[in-house]
Amino acid sequence: MKTENQKQDITPVINIDKIKLTQKESYNALLSGNREWVNKRLKDDPDYFKKLSKGQSPEVLWIGCSDSRVPANEVTNTQPGEVFVHRNIANVCAHSDMNMLSVLDYAVNVLKVKHVIVAGHYGCGGVAAALSNKQFGLIDNWLRHIKDVYRLHSHELDRITDHETKVNRLVELNVVEQAYNLCKTTIIQNAWKERTDLEVHGWIVDINTGLVKDLKVTNNDSQNLGYVYELDLAANGAH
Ligand code: CO
Repeated sequence: MKTENQKQDITPVINIDKIKLTQKESYNALLSGNREWVNKRLKDDPDYFKKLSKGQSPEVLWIGCSDSRVPANEVTNTQPGEVFVHRNIANVCAHSDMNMLSVLDYAVNVLKVKHVIVAGHYGCGGVAAALSNKQFGLIDNWLRHIKDVYRLHSHELDRITDHETKVNRLVELNVVEQAYNLCKTTIIQNAWKERTDLEVHGWIVDINTGLVKDLKVTNNDSQNLGYVYELDLAANGAH
């Protein structure tokens, strides 16, 4: 057991009290920020939250990067209730990711969204990490999906000598491939057999300007997927 004397022998290298205070401040700022947001909304419309609580009918599913600089609502100037959102590191759409598939299935088959947008962003740290050969830990296995995108497009990417240009081109190609990955899922293919008002898009957010670049890879039909990925209608109908 430690005695009081032993405790006093430990000299703190950092001032723990100060850290605790800073942590408390940043935490409390979130709560006071929330109250400010609520007050502002109520000032504009006293029934705002009453209406919001009735339900959601978003027309858009946003699949973006977790990066704190690319929030779906702010980037598109939309309001709560307008965009269904899924985010992960480097906006990867892996067909074995139950989280992504569950969001996609709910958005497409229950909410009946009309647009699914894969939104990458220039300067993506996840994509830059995937370009390197360093080990970062567990995340290396996630970034493998982006290395696979590199391999598919190595003939083009290998020729780019400027690092930033290479990262940003891989950001674009990653969005193209992830949008394609979505189109290959049974969820999207079956939905396309049922309705014509569902589009998959690929976007890049340029965080230097805030502007969105539409990569013009919009798809609304299984016929463009190629013979390897295009699936027949399921035996019991659509799904
Ligand atoms: Co990113």
